[in-house]
Amino acid sequence: MAEFDLERFVSLSKAVDLSDIDWAEAAHIGITDEEYRTIRFMADTELHTILYLRDLLAGHSAADSEVTQFMACWVYEETHHGRALERFCSEAGRPMDKDHFYKVNKVPSFREEITGFLSRGGARVTPHFAASHMCWGAINELLANTSYLALARHTKNPQLAKLVSKLARDERKHFAFYFSQAERRLRDGGWKAQKLCYLAIRGFWEPVGIGVGEPNTLEMIISLYFGDEEGRTELMALDTKIAQLPGMEWFDMIVKWTNAGRDRYQTIDAVSYARHRANDARNAAKKQASTFRGAQVAST
Ligand SMILES: [Fe+2]
Ligand SMILES: [Fe+2]
Repeated sequence: MAEFDLERFVSLSKAVDLSDIDWAEAAHIGITDEEYRTIRFMADTELHTILYLRDLLAGHSAADSEVTQFMACWVYEETHHGRALERFCSEAGRPMDKDHFYKVNKVPSFREEITGFLSRGGARVTPHFAASHMCWGAINELLANTSYLALARHTKNPQLAKLVSKLARDERKHFAFYFSQAERRLRDGGWKAQKLCYLAIRGFWEPVGIGVGEPNTLEMIISLYFGDEEGRTELMALDTKIAQLPGMEWFDMIVKWTNAGRDRYQTIDAVSYARHRANDARNAAKKQASTFRGAQVAST
């Protein structure tokens, strides 16, 4: 992968541009209950970034100018992602509570406390720990990018699709930074950096957003947006991408976690799960019919 141009990223970093969102159309079409739940979860995760920053900027990582410059812009962009999603809900007639941000951030989950403690400690003990941070970030940014694109594909609200496609572009930039940093640090750090990364990711990684906001929402998102053939193939491609990093050939955690999450959702809400599968089947049939029609036109 090409080296990330940090100077360019820092100089062009800005809040997501909402000037071309047609808020009247967004409100007129509205959002479904499941979209509202999805957007709220995504907004919560975005607004939680400031807390992740606290754990990322510690020890050797805090003294690394590339990392700190990126983080300063990254947290700004992510915060604006959260605000944009909140605004969308509000314009669509589903405003969030005034103290929503406080409620989401006031009590970190036990797992967040543990991973935060260990990651701050790891960053103080060895400079090699930064490679694990960067790899962790690359996985989560890639997942965020893919989730926004999946929402854009599924929603019937074109303004929501437009907004989340913009967010997906930012997530792709963030991914490029984390991935190129992880690649370099895992390669240069050799077995020490790679072993540490293995232990951190294998032992503690879970998708971004776990423990934030309403329970089981991530499971619903996986069932709703990644239950079909296309969704599953996309998730496999994410594992393949991360497995390209030095020492990460073993990585298959996204598919494993999402398969387990989908199964869990079937137990949590069997009715919604069955509805999602019926939607997938309908969409697949429509797609097949349009491919068939296209082939007929081409042959005449
Ligand atoms: Fe974001
Ligand atoms: Fe991001």
